[in-house]
Amino acid sequence: MTAAIHLRVLGPADTALHPAYCDYVARVFTQADFRRWCEWGQWSESYRAFCLFDGERVVANAAVSRMRLWVEGEEVEGFQLGAVGCLPGYRGQGMARRAMQAALAACGSAPVLLFANPTVAEFYPRFGFAAAPQWRFETRAELRPGAEPAPRLDLAEPADRAEFLRLAAVAAPSAGTFAARDYGRIATWYAANGYAAPLRRLDRDTLVFAQAEDGVLTIEDVFAAAPDRFDLAAALPRLIDAPVHTVSFGFGPPRGWAQAAATAIEEDAHLFVRGLDLEALPAHRFPLLART
Ligand SMILES: CC(C)(COP(=O)(O)OP(=O)(O)OC[C@H]1O[C@@H](n2cnc3c(N)ncnc32)[C@H](O)[C@@H]1OP(=O)(O)O)[C@@H](O)C(=O)NCCC(=O)NCCS
Repeated sequence: MTAAIHLRVLGPADTALHPAYCDYVARVFTQADFRRWCEWGQWSESYRAFCLFDGERVVANAAVSRMRLWVEGEEVEGFQLGAVGCLPGYRGQGMARRAMQAALAACGSAPVLLFANPTVAEFYPRFGFAAAPQWRFETRAELRPGAEPAPRLDLAEPADRAEFLRLAAVAAPSAGTFAARDYGRIATWYAANGYAAPLRRLDRDTLVFAQAEDGVLTIEDVFAAAPDRFDLAAALPRLIDAPVHTVSFGFGPPRGWAQAAATAIEEDAHLFVRGLDLEALPAHRFPLLART
């Protein structure tokens, strides 16, 4: 059986093979699905899947997203791995290792990161990765609803998606310490799967994923072309329809919010890095919607 297994690298043009990839993801990950994301046309040149095929089936994979990382105010080219796995019937035969080695060879000596889960905490160190902590950020803020609610965009609509992607391509990183830019097509994956907060327009150049519940306004991410020219704090009442006492952030430390503090370690982040030393950095949270 294994003799016929071969590696094939899928990109955006391999549309005939995208269903096989989607099928693999659905079988290995209960909460991840690429079908709608593909239908939305979000697979770009930045995303490559290093797939092992057995016949028509993808049986193992490691996908690579090219990332414009932002590390302490400097842009750094790097990569993020995702959808690493192997179909249950093929495990224990070196399949994931083959896919990982091919994916990592494509990354060269550039920094690589990935967000894992507790079952693979001992798997990634075999490939030179080290665990790195992430933090949660929040601040107290007594807010009352504003007069003019921020309009909502629907990323299932091609026009709204195009507007979002245009802005995401030029938006400033939402946090200065460890973040990324130009990851609109990762954020749309969350929206396509129903995992993103609603997307709201605060002005032409500022879109935010945000939602309020039980007095807490969660700002999952901010896509702002000119963050220094827009007073986000003043606009927050337009995102709520009931009073709020706390603002929490899906990234951090949030730009322009000196009062927002790292309140806890993000226990379920499971960040692993290779060729990237984050130890000396102040507390930070890589944006939730930039994680693959
Ligand atoms: C983890 C997973 C990818 C391993 O796939 P696999 O094809 O069985 O792995 P391989 O056979 O290539 O194993 C390579 C090496 O890693 C080891 N290994 C495999 N799974 C491991 C795990 N969960 N933890 C630690 N080591 C592991 C193997 O023993 C092997 O070691 P060796 O080189 O000493 O022989 C697979 O179990 C899987 O798909 N899990 C569910 C999906 C998942 O959680 N993916 C990670 C998302 S972040």
